Amino acid sequence: MTRKSLICSLVLVMIVSFVIIHVCGENFHVRKISNGNHHETIRRLQSLKASLTRHDSIASTPSSSFSHSPSPSSQPSEGMNNPRVFYVTSYGADPTGNSDSTEAILAAIADAANVLSEGHLMEGINNLGGAQVNLEGGNYLIRRSLMLPVSGVGNLMIHGGTLKASDDFPIDGYIIDLSSTSSNEKDSYNFEYITLKDLLLDSNFRGGGISVINSLRTNIDNCYITHFTTNGILVQSGHETYIRNSFLGQHITAGGDKAERNFSGTAINLQGNDNAVTDVVIFSAQIGIMVTGQANIFSGVHCYNKATGFGGTGIYLKLPGLTQTRIVNSYMDYTSIVAEDPVQLHISGSFFLGDANIVLKSMNGVLNGVTIVDNMFSGSNQGVEIVHLDKSNSPFHQIDQVIVDRNIARGMSLKATVAKMSMQGNGTLWNVDFNNVLLFPNLIKNVQYSLSSTGRSFPRHAIRNVSDNRVVIQTDKVVTANVFVMVDQSMVN
Ligand SMILES: *[C@@H]1O[C@H](CO)[C@@H](O)[C@H](O)[C@H]1NC(C)=O
Ligand SMILES: *[C@@H]1O[C@H](CO)[C@@H](O)[C@H](O)[C@H]1NC(C)=O
Ligand SMILES: *[C@@H]1O[C@H](CO)[C@@H](O)[C@H](O)[C@H]1NC(C)=O
Repeated sequence: MTRKSLICSLVLVMIVSFVIIHVCGENFHVRKISNGNHHETIRRLQSLKASLTRHDSIASTPSSSFSHSPSPSSQPSEGMNNPRVFYVTSYGADPTGNSDSTEAILAAIADAANVLSEGHLMEGINNLGGAQVNLEGGNYLIRRSLMLPVSGVGNLMIHGGTLKASDDFPIDGYIIDLSSTSSNEKDSYNFEYITLKDLLLDSNFRGGGISVINSLRTNIDNCYITHFTTNGILVQSGHETYIRNSFLGQHITAGGDKAERNFSGTAINLQGNDNAVTDVVIFSAQIGIMVTGQANIFSGVHCYNKATGFGGTGIYLKLPGLTQTRIVNSYMDYTSIVAEDPVQLHISGSFFLGDANIVLKSMNGVLNGVTIVDNMFSGSNQGVEIVHLDKSNSPFHQIDQVIVDRNIARGMSLKATVAKMSMQGNGTLWNVDFNNVLLFPNLIKNVQYSLSSTGRSFPRHAIRNVSDNRVVIQTDKVVTANVFVMVDQSMVN
């Protein structure tokens, strides 16, 4: 920036400030007049200010309504002032990560899970009122899964630090395991509204990161989960686990890793319904997201876990016959989406890079209610189809309401269920072949065409044959004409 423009900017800022002050002053003035009474206005402003201040202090000190409470970081105590914030170092946890903190953190969690309940959320779920286990930005070594001592609690948060599995951590364990310790009540949910936030979980190549079993409304927010060998996050039954703004990778890498062929494990394993994964990056794993439950949504997911060329999968939808999955606004970066016998699947607004594509895999030949629209694909001119039919088990023989349209491809083979073509010719036959672009072999459910002839004669013309993805149009006399044909494989049966 030149000095001259700097001065100009300063002058501009001053003018703007002046205008703002002036306008605000005007408003204040107007309000004063409309209220009529000057003292009344001051009193109202003061009470507004007091209510705002009071609100602030409620957030940090639930027990006292209007006092200058010590900030949590300046005085981490068992909570004289903060009875529902449990600081793990107060229980003897070692924030340097040198010694084992398992028992200390479990004790803090146990106290949090045993605060006086404020009624219940779902029936059978005691409301802990927002109790928090605060990791105080430390790095803690743990030797076994952190579990809640009781099930049937909710409204609890564990946040703010790093948890690392020890070298003898059980290889089938999860660092945070939200499963039931008591298996008495099978009908009710284990937990409701548990929030795991701002955590780095390092499984140390021993087991997984988080398991959420039969729970309701679980938040996993801003977590970094790494070095898992089984699942980064496992969600089993229950519903509404929301995984957002998080990063998952078996190995800490930024792509192009020499050992990529050896990546294993699953970053997110969803074995339940109605969950959401939003704004999540999966940077290494054999499978990015494995889905075996319905009605899950994926939005803003960036998968570059293990290239499909090396045997990886970005998102694997293993729900043949009833899929009910939406994948939107996502970024499949060298990793594909695979869907077995999809029934009700929507993929849109996504970017597929590096020959990543969508594989529809036939198990029993069913493909129903699939929309793949408005995506962009980019590849390396290897002829990879943007949507590929894997018929190794069986051909697809129940195809209905499948719409693959309005995608764009660069360096890949575009496939669609709707296609248009125009053909110039001189003669009586126009043979328009759609095999290059149509997704399904020998399947055209609807044809529309127009014929424009430039000559003096008015030919009679008709569609004579529609088979093998070809359309034949014939005229009764030789003409020079342009034929425009539109075909559709996706009509509702
Ligand atoms: C991948 O695994 C194989 C077999 O376990 C091993 O021989 C190879 O060195 C590994 N590659 C890398 C780059 O780690
Ligand atoms: C079209 O073909 C006919 C014979 O097949 C020929 O007589 C005529 O000149 C052709 N017209 C054009 C525009 O090529
Ligand atoms: C339509 O064309 C196919 C070859 O593409 C042929 O086998 C079939 O007999 C034709 N049908 C009619 C009615 O001409």
